[in-house]
Amino acid sequence: MRDPTHPADRPAQLDRPARPDGNAQPDRLALPKAELHVHIEGTLEADMVFRLGARNGVRLPFAGVEDLRARYSFSNLGSFLDLYYSCMAVLRTEDDFFDLADAYLARASKDGVRHAEIFFDPQAHTSRSVPLEAVVNGLTSAVSAARSRYGMSAGLIACFLRDQGPDAAMDTLDQLLHHRDAIIGVGLDSAEVGYPPALFADVFSRARAQGLHCVAHAGEEGPPSYVWEALDVLRVERIDHGVRSLEDRNLVARLADEQVPLTVCPLSNVRLKVVERIEEHPVAAMLEAGLAVTVNSDDPAYFGGYLDDNFAALAQGVGLDSYALRTLARNSLQASFLDDATRKTHLDHLDASED
Ligand code: ADE
Ligand code: ZN
Repeated sequence: MRDPTHPADRPAQLDRPARPDGNAQPDRLALPKAELHVHIEGTLEADMVFRLGARNGVRLPFAGVEDLRARYSFSNLGSFLDLYYSCMAVLRTEDDFFDLADAYLARASKDGVRHAEIFFDPQAHTSRSVPLEAVVNGLTSAVSAARSRYGMSAGLIACFLRDQGPDAAMDTLDQLLHHRDAIIGVGLDSAEVGYPPALFADVFSRARAQGLHCVAHAGEEGPPSYVWEALDVLRVERIDHGVRSLEDRNLVARLADEQVPLTVCPLSNVRLKVVERIEEHPVAAMLEAGLAVTVNSDDPAYFGGYLDDNFAALAQGVGLDSYALRTLARNSLQASFLDDATRKTHLDHLDASED
């Protein structure tokens, strides 16, 4: 029985969100693939900021949608995070989190995403007195509904805000363990430099003992030593970003040897000035070095595009051919936390798909 008052039973939001720059979409490839690095709060489009702001009576420090979009110009990670955290003020109820995740899942499915492993930032909400239950229940309802609505699966990864320190992360893990079954893993994000992974050794060791997958942002703005620490101290299964690993030959050799997946986010790297221009993005060198590279959208509402926009940018800007794009799609499925049988089904569909 459908219950129209339950968020999962409301009509799907299938309309494509307007792109901030108003340009036409590049041709979509829609290869079957997984998205492994997307912050659900980074999918909060400007029009949704105003819609939820009005619904919740939250006054916003922006004149309107266009004024907000005009601020999507960043000098580094920190300048982005300031806006990212301030827009989250509109996310207050379980329905808000459902609507946010549902809109992302609808959009991602159009890009051929068959499975998404979605980050969320519990501390960014509990610090505003939003109950963790509202966050987790809203996101979980959207994830459960995605199978029938969009023919895709998804899992949730709770990230600790590294700039809030290890004690706050441990408190957050305590709270998360009351919702153990709602999450597949933990991650580490927010301001990187000055917050080395080793600070979080105990938190990750406890999460791993609970059977949670472990990933961490490292080597985005931070040095290669943070990637080593994430591997050796946190014992993560994937590195989020990791582009600065290329500065350390021994690290590249290790990552290639062990086929540690790197969740690279090209449009994010350009917008946050990790690389100057898409044409200079090192993804081709990373593939050449035998690294297990995947491509992802990070915070698509802010960085000018969803997953296939990232694929298209690499095709147009870096000149990746269809073999390389297929390799990236294949790597994403290989690097996912899916069970082997489901992974194989998706890989077979990828092999059978046409360009
Ligand atoms: N939180 C959201 N996006 C992020 C990014 N690119 N790096 C670190 N933390 C983030
Ligand atoms: Zn990220």
